[in-house]
Amino acid sequence: MTERTLVLVKPDGVSRGLVGEVISRIERKGLKLVALELRNVERDLAEQHYAEHAGKGFYEDLLSFITSGPVVAAVVEGPRAAAAFRQLAGGTDPVEKAATGSIRGDFGMEVQYNLVHGSDSPESAEREVKLWFPDL
Ligand code: CMP
Repeated sequence: MTERTLVLVKPDGVSRGLVGEVISRIERKGLKLVALELRNVERDLAEQHYAEHAGKGFYEDLLSFITSGPVVAAVVEGPRAAAAFRQLAGGTDPVEKAATGSIRGDFGMEVQYNLVHGSDSPESAEREVKLWFPDL
């Protein structure tokens, strides 16, 4: 069954000129882009997006970072889209967890600056797609 997931190229990915690289990998994998937008993130959206991390030690830094510059937000579609993009992204920690060949493994060095976000399950994807693209 086809599924949708939310992908973000975070401010580090945008400022480093890696948007094309990320989009290219999504397309080459066989996933389909159904929405794509460059936008600045308001604090309120960032808080809702990262609600599950509220109270954690890195939460305030995470909000400051994600609101620090434009992100590219995309909705990506395909069979098992959330898992497929998580595999393209690699583990959260670009050095300890992400394999070489993944986006984070190839381009990242720090857990905070890990370039991309992908919804972690089909259920999170549904919530995040509605949050970022309510009119889709
Ligand atoms: P993301 O997939 O966007 O989901 C939550 C984000 O929090 C994660 O990627 C990381 O960028 C960030 N994160 C997770 N753990 C840490 C940590 N220990 N220190 C700083 N940032 C973190």
